[in-house]
Amino acid sequence: MNLSDLQSSLALVIQNASSAFETARNEAELNQIKGAFVGKTGPLADAMKGMGQVPPAERAAFGQVVNDARQQIDALLEGQRERLRFAARQARLDAVRRDLSLPPRGPIVGAQHPLSRVEDDMLRVFEELGYAAAGGPQVETDFHNFEALNFPPDHPARDMQDTFMVGGGRLLRTHTSPVQIRTLLAYKPPVRIAAPGPVYRCDTPDMTHSPNFRQVEGLVIDRNVTMVHLKGTLREFASRLFGRELNVRFRPSFFPFTEPSVEVDVECPFCTTGCRTCKGSRWIEILGAGMVDPAVIEAVGLNPDEWQGFAFGIGVERVAMLRYGVDDIRLFYENDVRFLAQFPA
Ligand code: DAH
Repeated sequence: MNLSDLQSSLALVIQNASSAFETARNEAELNQIKGAFVGKTGPLADAMKGMGQVPPAERAAFGQVVNDARQQIDALLEGQRERLRFAARQARLDAVRRDLSLPPRGPIVGAQHPLSRVEDDMLRVFEELGYAAAGGPQVETDFHNFEALNFPPDHPARDMQDTFMVGGGRLLRTHTSPVQIRTLLAYKPPVRIAAPGPVYRCDTPDMTHSPNFRQVEGLVIDRNVTMVHLKGTLREFASRLFGRELNVRFRPSFFPFTEPSVEVDVECPFCTTGCRTCKGSRWIEILGAGMVDPAVIEAVGLNPDEWQGFAFGIGVERVAMLRYGVDDIRLFYENDVRFLAQFPA
């Protein structure tokens, strides 16, 4: 046989292989059919066997032709195998029963963020108690954030609040208390305000700290205001916020802008005999408060003999953590829907 005879006979083999492969209805059939072309007794094997009679000088060319043919047949085989697999997969999918009566997933409805909800609840209670909403800038002056609140320069009390400075003598407010100063500079007493908003502290985030959190500030300035008014107000506030009659208790504390200053505990709203949230103590700390220091009254140009008052500052995150049993403050800021979806509207 000469080279061109071999070529044309193999071309015929390829053509036959192609049509034979196409008749396979599944992979098993294909495997059977392929034996007739690429098996030990197939035309390719025969061609290789005939190599002995080919003059040595032409063997390389013959071998090349046989190899080319084998590659083409292999490609046809793989192509057909792929088509059969695809068809089999498609048939499996088609066989799956589709239940067209299944109701579609409903629309996903958003809800208020838990922090906004707690803050709104607080403001609603203060509104009921006759407080006006107030606010102030987040970029503050040293005067409003510290000086007028009776933090003298270099006073160690400033270390209680790690401050972000923003240049130009300005800073990110470390608490909502500067709203007390702005309010008293803008309005004549008597005043009664609740001021919510973000505050900033140069803190490393952990389970209970965030460099950016929220407070609600309260301030009452009037004639003849006493600590009894403060205690009654906070008792009423806690009871309305948590929806049940709750006592409060004062523990002595220190803030530069109040004298005396107190930490306020509220009776645990979540139990009657001790629980995980109150650590069995029946009391949880929710805010700081006190009688406005006469130095603050003077700093805004009022006469402390005529005007007194009380103030308080509530951490919104802290109350939200208690209310919802959240033990890591960072969850509030990640906005992972799997977390947020647990607070439906
Ligand atoms: N400003 C205080 C803070 O951020 C909280 C505070 C305590 C506010 C006592 C007050 C208050 O108005 O009377 O730590």
